[in-house]
Amino acid sequence: MKRPHVILNAGITLDGKIASRSGNTEISSPEDMLRVHGIRKEVDAIMVGINTVLADDPKLTAHKVSDDPGDNPLRVVVDSRARTPLGSRVLNHKAETLIAVSETADAGRVEALREHCEVVVCGRSRVDLGCLMGKLHGMGVRTLLLEGGGTLNWSMLEAGFVDEVRVAIAPWIVGGKDAVTLVEGEGFDRVREGVELRLLRHYTLGPDLVLEYEVKKYKSG
Ligand SMILES: NC(=O)c1ccc[n+]([C@@H]2O[C@H](COP(=O)([O-])OP(=O)(O)OC[C@H]3O[C@@H](n4cnc5c(N)ncnc54)[C@H](OP(=O)(O)O)[C@@H]3O)[C@@H](O)[C@H]2O)c1
Repeated sequence: MKRPHVILNAGITLDGKIASRSGNTEISSPEDMLRVHGIRKEVDAIMVGINTVLADDPKLTAHKVSDDPGDNPLRVVVDSRARTPLGSRVLNHKAETLIAVSETADAGRVEALREHCEVVVCGRSRVDLGCLMGKLHGMGVRTLLLEGGGTLNWSMLEAGFVDEVRVAIAPWIVGGKDAVTLVEGEGFDRVREGVELRLLRHYTLGPDLVLEYEVKKYKSG
């Protein structure tokens, strides 16, 4: 199957959380935000799960490194039930947006979203990520930045659709068994069944430590 090259990126605490137990996400340093916006400027598309849109209302643009709207990637929201609020910043006019829904999405909600962005239907109940990757590739998306959250990260990793993982470890520990971690989902039974990575590069950036890996297994996707 042809699919984009996928880079999973996140700012995490030392204990692997991408948000605190109350959903607070002040993890990234100003230096790391510039790094992330630099990646956004380079890729064709950026993808998040619907919970991230509902929790953070992100713009998902490269505005911290460029004023040129042409530098903004296509924004992709994985949203089976078409719950993306019409007033979301991800639907502003700073960049193109594509929402992936499933066949169970309410037809009225889908029509309302179509007035603001492109909507594709992939899968019966949940968004079928293989179908979505194929459609994105067909639209010319060759590089995709996956920005979470933990549930979508798991599905993408489990499906074998992630090629690189980059994390900026911020010098904080927040704990909390219900705080969202970098990868959620069911998890693998054994470490050796997991997704094996190879460290490519590491460096300090302001207060953070940036680690860049390539995925060794599941590369065929
Ligand atoms: N620190 C960071 O860098 C960072 C980055 C991003 C997010 N976050 C945080 O992460 C949290 C949200 O993460 P989350 O794990 O709760 O949710 P998420 O990954 O953002 O969204 C998950 C949702 O996507 C939808 N979805 C549709 N098809 C899917 C599929 N095939 N696989 C997986 N998901 C699918 C599901 O909802 P439906 O069934 O309704 O479609 C699912 O519940 C927020 O607190 C946010 O602030 C932090």
